[in-house]
Amino acid sequence: MFRIDMHSHILPGCDHGSDSVETSVAQVKRAYAAGVRAIHLSSHYYNHKDDIESFLNRRNRCYNKLMDTLDSDIKDSVKFVLGAEVTLEVELANEADLAALAIGDTRNILIEMPDMRWTDWTYNALYEIGVRHNLKPLIAHVDRYDQKQCAKLYEMGLNIQVNASAFSSIFTRGKMLKLFHGGIAHVIGSDVHGKEAKEYDQYEKALHYLSVHEEEIMENAAKILGI
Ligand SMILES: [Fe+2]
Repeated sequence: MFRIDMHSHILPGCDHGSDSVETSVAQVKRAYAAGVRAIHLSSHYYNHKDDIESFLNRRNRCYNKLMDTLDSDIKDSVKFVLGAEVTLEVELANEADLAALAIGDTRNILIEMPDMRWTDWTYNALYEIGVRHNLKPLIAHVDRYDQKQCAKLYEMGLNIQVNASAFSSIFTRGKMLKLFHGGIAHVIGSDVHGKEAKEYDQYEKALHYLSVHEEEIMENAAKILGI
């Protein structure tokens, strides 16, 4: 099975991940060299800053710019799936059209947990996203958070994403390996930002540590992307 990147900031000028089409093309080329053949384009969406419609318009413009610039051989061999990294905020679940931020044509949505302490509203908001909007959250980069705090998320049966960089640090590698061994975590992402795209070195390294699970991880990713 081909490799999939479930979390990236590649669209030119859509967020701080890429400042130009040149940067975006360099990121995609580096992904391709790492064996990646499908990428979730997950630009940041912040509910307090943006309305969904203007975000989608911006995202489409940036996407078209990238597609117009990429060589056809890469364009033909890499599947790009539009989505967003949606930060969980108090008012988010009140958005009528939250499903417009879902991954591709699926009911999955990449959710970034808030920086503030997680309390009842946080878990309720995740619950509302599931029940009111019929969406299934994929929780972004759980390696960033205290694992005791994450236990509740794991109990909720949500999809779980880990950043590849977690496997480059001895402080998080073991914990994240355990999550994959236990079937708690499902997919990995580069979370690539910037022209050097060093995150794909980490992506390759992560899959070295996760080699026994690679097939399953990519199958999970394909399912979540709907490809
Ligand atoms: Fe991200």
